[in-house]
Amino acid sequence: MKICSKIAGIGKCIPTKRVTNDDLAKFLNTSDEWIKQRTGIEQRYWVENNESTSDLALVAANEALKKAGLAATDLEMIIFATLSPDHFFPGTACFLQAKLGVPGIAALDVRQQCTGFLYGLSIADLYIRQGIYKNVLVVGAEVHSKGLDKTDRGRDVTVLFGDGAGAVVLSRTEVNNAEKDAHIYSTHLHADGTYAKELWVQSPGMANGPELITLGEVQEGLQYPQMNGRMVFTHAVRSMCDVINEGLKYNNLKIEDVDFFAFHQANMRINEKVAQLLNIPAEKVFNTIQKYGNTTAATIPIGLTDAVQEHKLKPGMLVASAAFGSGFTWASSIFRY
Ligand code: COA
Repeated sequence: MKICSKIAGIGKCIPTKRVTNDDLAKFLNTSDEWIKQRTGIEQRYWVENNESTSDLALVAANEALKKAGLAATDLEMIIFATLSPDHFFPGTACFLQAKLGVPGIAALDVRQQCTGFLYGLSIADLYIRQGIYKNVLVVGAEVHSKGLDKTDRGRDVTVLFGDGAGAVVLSRTEVNNAEKDAHIYSTHLHADGTYAKELWVQSPGMANGPELITLGEVQEGLQYPQMNGRMVFTHAVRSMCDVINEGLKYNNLKIEDVDFFAFHQANMRINEKVAQLLNIPAEKVFNTIQKYGNTTAATIPIGLTDAVQEHKLKPGMLVASAAFGSGFTWASSIFRY
């Protein structure tokens, strides 16, 4: 018998405002054809003006708690992965904790962008395996729409991202039969900061000059994400293949042993290329990018929630999840659902 962590409940929150590619083409020099062909994205969802990242997270968290059969008061820690926090500080985990009404428990923000959820999962898994906590909430939530450049200057980035939240409750479990019992096998985390400026938001920031942000920087659009799309694409394909292989090798598993691949959703072509290079049959890869765009840290838990709802992900299945994002950061997790 081994003490491990397992996913006890999952949930998501998708805002109600649907934004199609044609909607974007009303104010950006872009087209449905270009976006679909280059990325696979057909639509995304944006929040209403008064909705925040922690608002979306709260809905996803409550659904995950309900599915786990737990109350918020059963949680001992909240890990919140986001690149679009409610405020510069304090961390959004604190705002979510207040909304969940559980003062006193640990609240931690993770700033690893598209890889943030897997970084969070890894931290939660270790706390549980060490016997410190029994139930940890891991949330990925993003409100991109308020921080995108809605002029042609930012069209390469703006068409890619959507808003949303996903959450899992990770709980302590006793594993007697690793080939049957739900549990996290391992997580593998990486980063290479030499590429930090290939996908980043420069301002506001303390590294720029005498002020947090200047009017000149705002006029230049430095508060919006800047991306070297081709470089991100190439690194994403290579790193996701490497980190999936690393996870499988660590657990003495082969690609054929995996029932379900939960990849981050940045670009359909990235995932198709990864599947092709690793010889993964298309039906084992669950994609949601058509519906939601790239929801960064929220992507993987949103995908898991949909896959369970659509009966594609079933109890006992072996899952390999991988993500790549700004930092550059990349990670994988192998788990039995
Ligand atoms: N609509 C129409 N045209 C656009 C456009 C848009 N939204 N964005 C860029 N273009 C134009 C470019 O200006 C360029 O025009 P030019 O040939 O006249 O100079 C042309 O389309 C091709 O641009 P390019 O950047 O070479 O396209 P690409 O094939 O590399 O695709 C991405 C661009 C962004 C879709 C692709 O690089 C990508 O997905 N990269 C990974 C991004 C990512 O995953 N980011 C999140 C990381 S987690």
